[in-house]
Amino acid sequence: MAGMSAGLEAIETASRDELLSLQLERLATTLRHAYKNVDQYRSTFDAAGVSPEDCRSLEDLRHFPFLTKDTFRENYPLGLLAVPRERVARIHASSGTTGKPTVVAYTQSDIDMWAIVMARSIWAAGGRPGDVVHVAYGYGLFTGGLGAHYGAERLGCTVIPVSGGQTARQVSLIHDLQPRIILVTPSYCLNLIDEMERQGLDPTDTSLEIGIFGAEPWTDEMRQEIEQRLQIDAVDIYGLTEVIGPGVAQECVETKDGLTVWEDHFYPEIIDPDTGEILPSGEEGELVLTSLTKEAMPVIRYRTGDLTRLLPATARTMRRIARIKGRTDDMLIIRGVNLYPSQLEVILLRIPELAPHYQLEVVQAGNSNGLVVHVESREHLDDPAARALAATAAGRIKDGVGITVEIRVAEPGSVSRSTGKAQRVVNRTS
Ligand code: DLL
Repeated sequence: MAGMSAGLEAIETASRDELLSLQLERLATTLRHAYKNVDQYRSTFDAAGVSPEDCRSLEDLRHFPFLTKDTFRENYPLGLLAVPRERVARIHASSGTTGKPTVVAYTQSDIDMWAIVMARSIWAAGGRPGDVVHVAYGYGLFTGGLGAHYGAERLGCTVIPVSGGQTARQVSLIHDLQPRIILVTPSYCLNLIDEMERQGLDPTDTSLEIGIFGAEPWTDEMRQEIEQRLQIDAVDIYGLTEVIGPGVAQECVETKDGLTVWEDHFYPEIIDPDTGEILPSGEEGELVLTSLTKEAMPVIRYRTGDLTRLLPATARTMRRIARIKGRTDDMLIIRGVNLYPSQLEVILLRIPELAPHYQLEVVQAGNSNGLVVHVESREHLDDPAARALAATAAGRIKDGVGITVEIRVAEPGSVSRSTGKAQRVVNRTS
């Protein structure tokens, strides 16, 4: 173990006290920087009657106003910039399903910090200098590809910047260049595994040993599926454009018990999404993040919309978050019952005859929503067998989440595939 800790940064195993005092010092600097340089923060702090000097302990952060995605939109494109435009080294943006994208900016020092937390994440996943790393997150304005790329380079790895898509070619590259690590969304990874099988390759035979999966909700059931089919360790990575990109939190391979938040750079809180009140440690609510070292676009109390719980530290000094259950805006209300797609994933993936490819169709009929679940069988089935399997799945869902849904068991390969983030929910008005 002594050899292993050689690669950890001192702060990852520092005392809690040391971490807390570093956080407070960095928080004070960030609040002053934001207040002095960003109109938005100055006016919302003033309106709330708080100033940076009022933050004397980490607990005082609760008196400061939240930042939301809407505020990013209102300040499109660069209204939240806290440094002169000339100091911006890079721009990224999140796709935004509706309206304008969210644009974010980085100074060179932000890019360096991001590379450090991503290198730390890859190390925590089990990556080491010299490893060959296949990056299948999209490159471009999306933060996944370039974020992973700079982190892997910083760690001293050999990076293959494949990006998303061209699935057959990805499989050849994995076969020929023998990567040890892959960074990819879990849904696209399944796509790659299917393609290996189509090409007559045995997925358990690849050089891959570690997969670092994120950018979309997934479950322990999906972890098992991927680990078994690829014979790798599959760990979770979390992040979001507004805060930096991937590398806000990472699951450590030795514990696989949720994601360690890199708390020396990002300060987490959990709030009740309805009231905004801070919830006691361990309770499920909305994750709120404050950047502690960002220059170009500091975020103070950013409401991520992601539902999770804060957990005590295990593999590192820093606290963890539980696997993300989903986004508050992804919550479905089906016949009056609140439901997240990940809850159905857990149930569907426990049925061995079903493949892990599914899409949920919300059918609006009058005042109430119904749900049609399209899910593939692993093997071709005749009609009676498919119907029997659908009845089994519907029964499990009724027992598990208390709602009646229509299940359509589809042919292998018929549910639409992703090359990045999977689109789990589609809407239909009938
Ligand atoms: O998805 C950044 C990223 C890239 C993270 C690669 C991990 C790996 P956005 O496009 O801004 O950024 O989307 C951020 O994706 O608020 C969550 O809702 C969701 N998300 C990200 N990671 C996870 C995860 C990137 N591990 C939004 N589990 C976030 C569940 C995740 N949801």
